[in-house]
Amino acid sequence: MSKNLVLYFSVYGTAKLTAEEIAKQTGADLVEIEPVIPYDSDRNHYNALARYAKKEHDEDMRPEIKNVISIENYDNIFIGYPSYKKVL
Ligand SMILES: Cc1cc2nc3c(=O)[nH]c(=O)nc-3n(C[C@H](O)[C@H](O)[C@H](O)COP(=O)(O)O)c2cc1C
Repeated sequence: MSKNLVLYFSVYGTAKLTAEEIAKQTGADLVEIEPVIPYDSDRNHYNALARYAKKEHDEDMRPEIKNVISIENYDNIFIGYPSYKKVL
């Protein structure tokens, strides 16, 4: 049987819920990608967060993550994160 991994990053919880459902349906291990410096999850600050996310994207920044994640023993890896669509 193939071994599945669901890796996800989520600020407001949408990707987390989706990741949990995919893990449930596929029998996958579930691992959260946790940044060392957490993102502000207050929705009132969304515009500032989106501006910062655009800067990270444009400058190809690679924020440090807390956990070491080994992917070599998996056949299938699902990756979920907040979608990036150019709005700013
Ligand atoms: C860091 C971050 C950046 C985002 N950037 C965009 C964007 O550029 N364009 C867009 O349409 N939505 C953007 N969103 C909105 C997300 O797609 C939407 O809020 C999604 O539900 C976030 O996933 P989450 O609930 O798992 O954090 C962004 C959300 C986050 C957290």
